[in-house]
Amino acid sequence: MAAQQPKVSLTGIKPTGEPHLGNYIGAIRPSLELTSTYESIYFIADYHALTSIRDRRELASYTRSVAATWITLGLDPARTVFYRQSDVPEIFELSWVLSCVTGKGLMNRAHAYKAARDRNAESGVADLDAGINMGLFNYPILMAVDILIMNTDVVPVGQDQSQHVEYAADIAGSFNHLFGDVFSLRIPEGIYPAGSSARTLPGTDGRKMSKSYKNTIPLFAPEKQLRKLIRGIVSDSTPVEQPKDPDASAAFALFENFATPEAVKDMRARLEQGGTGWGELKNALFETVNAWLSPLREQYEALVAPGSELDAILDAGAEQARDRARPVLQGVRRAVGISPL
Ligand code: ADP
Ligand code: TRP
Repeated sequence: MAAQQPKVSLTGIKPTGEPHLGNYIGAIRPSLELTSTYESIYFIADYHALTSIRDRRELASYTRSVAATWITLGLDPARTVFYRQSDVPEIFELSWVLSCVTGKGLMNRAHAYKAARDRNAESGVADLDAGINMGLFNYPILMAVDILIMNTDVVPVGQDQSQHVEYAADIAGSFNHLFGDVFSLRIPEGIYPAGSSARTLPGTDGRKMSKSYKNTIPLFAPEKQLRKLIRGIVSDSTPVEQPKDPDASAAFALFENFATPEAVKDMRARLEQGGTGWGELKNALFETVNAWLSPLREQYEALVAPGSELDAILDAGAEQARDRARPVLQGVRRAVGISPL
């Protein structure tokens, strides 16, 4: 019996900021763990980021730092396909075709679009579509293309992206219904890697660590800045000698995710007992995170520097991605009558 083909897993990473500790625990680590089970595809969704980024240097620099971060943290370009979305023009051609079979109503119901309208409603803006660009509106179609053009089986994403993955399956179904079973072999499904929703890391202000709250601790901040950010994590004013509740502390929540189980247990006991201040916890947190990141920082800096091997890695990835995308697009072109059968 022929060996079964490994399933294909694909995930897109939007380069909208410097990757932070929360991204690592919630997305990067769980997603990289799948490389042993699936044929894995990762890409930088730079054209997705263009729906919100309006500064050319920002888009270029986030794209580079996100790519360098994933490689530094274990993405092996030799064992995975890794590319920039914008390097695969087939994606944009298919995007038009699939937008022609996608109901506008489906897009009207998309969470991100609805949330943008709700924000307008809340702030009393008369035109609910004010400030919403067509890129945001069409976002789910582009994402469906990302998924379908690579013959994806599974899409590891956060729960917030589940609707998009369902849309990809719906859109494939609409196409098949009209033009024949071009996408019937694989119906993509979302998978939610362990840890991705279970672990939400707090940021320096105690709320969820998020670029939108400007409370992040970037993974590859220089050592001095890392120390400063960790020192600045909110804490209450319980005096050093008094017992403390570790579970009410953002710094402790971070510590739990990066320190060894023994170190966490020991720190918990010391805080609960009294005599250990928040400052001491933050120092331990800094030492732990820094010891992990220090050796990686050098590799990251080398990769992110202009003219590094990153360019060749992404170019090679783009070739591989285009080789996969071309036959899928060709099948679609034939099915709709743009190319002869
Ligand atoms: P941000 O909120 O900083 O803009 P993104 O929305 O770009 O982050 O998230 C990218 C990935 O990182 C998603 O899979 C998301 O679930 C994960 N993630 C983001 N913030 C956190 C966090 N604080 N804790 C755990 N996972 C997170
Ligand atoms: N929309 C995803 C996010 O905001 C990024 C993304 C774009 C993606 N295309 C994708 C994720 C395809 C998985 C598959 O995080």
